[in-house]
Amino acid sequence: MLNSAAVQRPPWVVGNWKMNGGLSDNEALLSGLLGLLEAHGGGRIAQCAVAVPAPYLFQSMVRLSGHSIGWGGQDVSAEPAGAFTGEVSVSMLRDFEAQFSIVGHSERRTRHAETDAVIAAKAVALADSGLVPLICVGESIQVRDSGKAVESVCQQVQRVAQALQSKALLGKAVFAYEPIWAIGTGRSATPEQAQEMHAAIRRTLSEIDAKAAAQIRLLYGGSVKAASAAALAAQPDVDGALVGGASLEAKEFFDIACAMSGQ
Ligand code: 13P
Repeated sequence: MLNSAAVQRPPWVVGNWKMNGGLSDNEALLSGLLGLLEAHGGGRIAQCAVAVPAPYLFQSMVRLSGHSIGWGGQDVSAEPAGAFTGEVSVSMLRDFEAQFSIVGHSERRTRHAETDAVIAAKAVALADSGLVPLICVGESIQVRDSGKAVESVCQQVQRVAQALQSKALLGKAVFAYEPIWAIGTGRSATPEQAQEMHAAIRRTLSEIDAKAAAQIRLLYGGSVKAASAAALAAQPDVDGALVGGASLEAKEFFDIACAMSGQ
């Protein structure tokens, strides 16, 4: 039986900027965030990172190297190189010292028709190169109302997890549960709904690899705000947050990171 309470999973709080920002706005946001972290004086705080639009990876690397905030991409190609107009490869992310990339965000699943197979290939490409695949899963409101949310989300998890496990890479993954009905709506899942789904995700992972499952971090995403973060973080299987809108404000994002580490 899995004893997840016995395993240390340091919380991780990732800001997904989506298609927002610009050179000067990013500079103001990152310097604000670094200022808050430095003023905090190294107290206990969740690890933070930002998932930036690809053109700003260079700026992120220059601005964040040597500091405690990580950076990564919002999507990546599963292909190593070639005639794939508009795509960004894993090695390009590596050139800018990205540590991770989001894959399978619902905005890409819906708007770009990405399947679990495509998302699995992207996750494997990242993990194979030493980057963390931050794999998003979630259900629509119709699926939740039909009572099939757990089944649907666990199927998404299973397909990607099995592909990673076939290359012995499952332990590198981080999953984010992002109910589609909670994204950008101001209507977060309740802590109980998040915990129920996270526990189901961890059970699904443990059927594939119990040891990896106990260590894999499961983030919650969907209208996370500083005011709601502590109650989410108090759930035993919530190991951090993937934050959209609120990550565009330095103080709000910082407060979420504090709340996620129990401060
Ligand atoms: P919001 O926090 O704006 O709801 O976005 C969540 C999200 O999609 C993060 O990836």
